[in-house]
Amino acid sequence: MNSTDTQENKFLGKVYLLGAGPGDPGLMTLKGKGLLECADVVIYDALVSPAILAMINPQAEQINAGKRMGRHSLLQEDTTKLLIEKAQDHAIVVRLKGGDPFIFGRGGEEMAELVEAGIPVEVVPGITSGIAAPAYAGIPLTHRLYSSSVTFVTGHESAGKYRPTVNWSAIAHGSETIVIYMGIHNLPYIVEQLTTAGLSVDTPIALVRWGTRPDQEELIGKMGTIVEQVENTGFGAPAIAVIGSVVNLHSILSGCRPQ
Ligand SMILES: C[S@@+](CC[C@H](N)C(=O)[O-])C[C@H]1O[C@@H](n2cnc3c(N)ncnc32)[C@H](O)[C@@H]1O
Repeated sequence: MNSTDTQENKFLGKVYLLGAGPGDPGLMTLKGKGLLECADVVIYDALVSPAILAMINPQAEQINAGKRMGRHSLLQEDTTKLLIEKAQDHAIVVRLKGGDPFIFGRGGEEMAELVEAGIPVEVVPGITSGIAAPAYAGIPLTHRLYSSSVTFVTGHESAGKYRPTVNWSAIAHGSETIVIYMGIHNLPYIVEQLTTAGLSVDTPIALVRWGTRPDQEELIGKMGTIVEQVENTGFGAPAIAVIGSVVNLHSILSGCRPQ
């Protein structure tokens, strides 16, 4: 008996790390939809939209592993344990994550733990919010006249979630468009870091909240004004921040939002 035989005996099923996309159910991949329709178990995160959850096989066991700032339904290690347990006696176990599992979604860590435990696992990419939310706000991240480079960065690094810590000075000079995930809580710090590093206070910035969902909201400003605008409006997470002159296209393109 080789190691593959042992694995097959131990686990009936396979885990699919599935990207749910940013919220609009029309942005779920065909492969992902098929998996949700025939899943036996679905373990999902907090940012997965109700419209996506509605696609799940009604017979499937559904478990909310949702994590939002400071409120953990399931610890990461418990989630992995649960996936291992479920794969022992269910054929299709879906780990459903907002956006793309490998973009600030801990998908890489979860997949490595499953591989280490000998569980068959596959990743099914999703559309990340850092691309889709700006697109639905009429902001193309690149444009031949305004930007030929994009950086995707987490704004949550100061809480120790990601390492190494972000080099904001390098980012200020490194690309023409900057897309920040989880940046709302640390926005004053991020703005200060980027402007101290030389990014002009007149650089346009857009915040897009609940992007691609029916309740999508946008706040458009400049680096020098955005913190005050957030304070005055109470604009909150979850949102994507886009910085760079591509934001100016919002005034021309935002009327063409997909329906
Ligand atoms: C833990 S990260 C997960 C990112 C996800 N894996 C992705 O690819 O979109 C959570 C952050 O993603 C962003 N986010 C997720 N969904 C969003 C949406 N529909 N609109 C705006 N931002 C969103 C927010 O910055 C939020 O704080």
